[in-house]
Amino acid sequence: MEQKYDFGLVGLGVMGRNFILNVADNGFTAFGNDLDNEKVDALIKEGGDVEKVNASTSAKTFVNALKTPRKIMLLVPAGKVVDSVIEGLLPHLDKGDIIIDGGNSFFTDTDRREAYLETRGISFFGAGVSGGAKGARRGPSIMPGGSKSAYAHIKPIFEAVSAKFNGEPCVAYLGPKSAGNYVKMVHNGIEYGLMQLTSEIYDVLKKGGSFTNEELHATYTKWNAGRLQSFLVEITSKIFIQKDELNLSKIGLLDQISDKAKQKGTGKWTSQNAMDLGIPVPSIDIAVSMREISALKEERIAADKIYDRPKVSPMEKVKLEKLAEEALYFSFIVTYAQGLHQLADASKEYNYQLEIAQIAKIWRAGCIIRAGLLADITKAFQGDKNLPNLLVSPTFVKKVQSTVSSARELVAYGATNGIPLPGLSNSLTYFDAYTSARLPLNLIQAQRDYFGSHTYERLDKEGVFHTEWED
Ligand code: 6PG
Repeated sequence: MEQKYDFGLVGLGVMGRNFILNVADNGFTAFGNDLDNEKVDALIKEGGDVEKVNASTSAKTFVNALKTPRKIMLLVPAGKVVDSVIEGLLPHLDKGDIIIDGGNSFFTDTDRREAYLETRGISFFGAGVSGGAKGARRGPSIMPGGSKSAYAHIKPIFEAVSAKFNGEPCVAYLGPKSAGNYVKMVHNGIEYGLMQLTSEIYDVLKKGGSFTNEELHATYTKWNAGRLQSFLVEITSKIFIQKDELNLSKIGLLDQISDKAKQKGTGKWTSQNAMDLGIPVPSIDIAVSMREISALKEERIAADKIYDRPKVSPMEKVKLEKLAEEALYFSFIVTYAQGLHQLADASKEYNYQLEIAQIAKIWRAGCIIRAGLLADITKAFQGDKNLPNLLVSPTFVKKVQSTVSSARELVAYGATNGIPLPGLSNSLTYFDAYTSARLPLNLIQAQRDYFGSHTYERLDKEGVFHTEWED
């Protein structure tokens, strides 16, 4: 009898090839599919044994080579490609087969595809995969959403290939429909926030303390060994000392990289959807805006010439480094708090039944936002399932209380010296506003009623009021 394979994967780019090799390393047989002959040949060669890893350019050969119910993962660019790959597979599939979209698809696309495939008897999963190419090869964090009963078929494979934290797999069934893609989207929103914060801190250390790249490397390395331990701080420490192979002078590569940051959209989607649902995520919003401001390079250069900038008054290195560490820790917490708040509210809106502790748990290893902090975040939500916001968790109150004054001092220093720290100041503002029993928005209500008779509520009486304001 012709051999049938355990797992199928469409899209043999770097992520796809690495993922399929990871599957094979874990004792499952896997079959790949790509339109590109070279990619198919490369995978067969790298797999080494066609009984373990095989591939074909033909969708029909690919589908026929898989055990039923077929488990087919797509690692192709998000958007129309996903739909066309699905259409190409459909004529060859049987009822009960499973398609898993591993890309960063927009969550409403996943809902549409799930509903469509359900009519054909096919289970569809949106399963965000985080960890980049290395993660795909050595163990990513996987965020699957879809049919709970169908998940049983893919669970053993996903648990085997995922990253492990203290032996626990960084994958779990998260919820129905697009729950997995939504969680991955917010993961990326948080990723944007943390990246913006680490960049601002680099800027202030450099401008305020004249830290060299070597000193920045040493500082971030030290931080990564402490409570700021995280993938992003770790890679940042390495980035500072990366040699520039195109420039034989001593200048590091980082100094030669253009300051225009690109984006593929997941951070923007997080912000947009948070706005739609009325959930404040200013640390993520500003990270998206900063990528947009960064793209206005020509305008920035012109505007830079018009305005005088305050001369930076240097801060003593040891003091600045301490402030920076505390401010970064504070703002990391506030950023996770916002993203998780978004997940909790979106879960109610879309009926995802998300468990925040479980999400924090599968982010502890493998993904881009993995950090030591996530172990504490997991515990906080395990201890109180209905925690409204990380900021009010007793363990986090202590962490925030002991670092917020440094965030204040650094934001003030940045403002006085013309060093933009928007992620840090938005995090501080979010904290100050979220923890204020009274905000000045009573005035906004009065203004709305003044010019538009929009009515207001009172503190001392129930009901809705309108005043004929005196001109
Ligand atoms: C991950 C990353 C991954 C990708 C980002 C980059 O979790 O592995 O988030 O999904 O690198 O989408 O996003 P931008 O191009 O928008 O920065």
